[in-house]
Amino acid sequence: MQIILCDTAAEVGVRAADIIEARVRQGPAVLGLATGGSPESTYQELIRRHREQGLSFADVTAFTLDEYAGLAADHEQSYCSTIRRELVDHVDLPLDQLHTPRGDAADLVAEADRFDASIAAAGGVDVQILGIGANGHIGFNEPTSSLSSRTRVKTLAGKTRADNAGYFAEGQVPRLCLTQGLGNIGEARRAVLVALGKNKAAAVRSMVEGPVSAWCPASVLQLHRRAVVVLDPGAASELALLDYYREAQDLNDQLA
Ligand code: GLP
Repeated sequence: MQIILCDTAAEVGVRAADIIEARVRQGPAVLGLATGGSPESTYQELIRRHREQGLSFADVTAFTLDEYAGLAADHEQSYCSTIRRELVDHVDLPLDQLHTPRGDAADLVAEADRFDASIAAAGGVDVQILGIGANGHIGFNEPTSSLSSRTRVKTLAGKTRADNAGYFAEGQVPRLCLTQGLGNIGEARRAVLVALGKNKAAAVRSMVEGPVSAWCPASVLQLHRRAVVVLDPGAASELALLDYYREAQDLNDQLA
């Protein structure tokens, strides 16, 4: 696991965008997109590079990680609407190349299988962008999710529902979701997790330095061959081996 320590959220966005841009400029690419606050600075930076430096997403196919059950794609709080607002509507990624699980499907189990198959049909994900929940979840893989899980219907944890309550009218936070599994995420050829703020520090420590355990779903990234974790000072603040990561980063930067 490579740890990149940054001074600000904007710098986190720049470092993550560098990895994504490098892959997108190589030719047709499949990106895995996370929603939420964490990747906002990354998406802002990609949008800026699209506008100012001609970075094109015309040959990108994108798969989102997850979706609330019961929400239609055009619902304001659906992750389909969110990723369009945060990134897709501001770049030249054709809408028919954006794939999101359908939260309003009549048969959610069949929809999960369909979505999983569509990722495989696209050849798998080249770069998966991830945030992390305060309880260590990635996607909506809550604690005790199987480390080899596939896209499926999940029950949201009380903590996750509370964290997302601000986006919904009182009592309206969905209880179920569709999410890519930890097995899917592990298959991405590159994983880039961004985390910001002190309220993620404990989850980041468990992910990076704790045991690989379904208790902290993000710890599955310890098994990934090319996972990069990009952190601001708050998110990095509980890491025990901070000096080591800083030294390794200095050397990596000199070699780059
Ligand atoms: C959400 C999403 C995740 C996201 C995480 C953290 O519930 N399902 O994909 O990474 O929780 O969200 P945020 O980045 O807003 O803190």
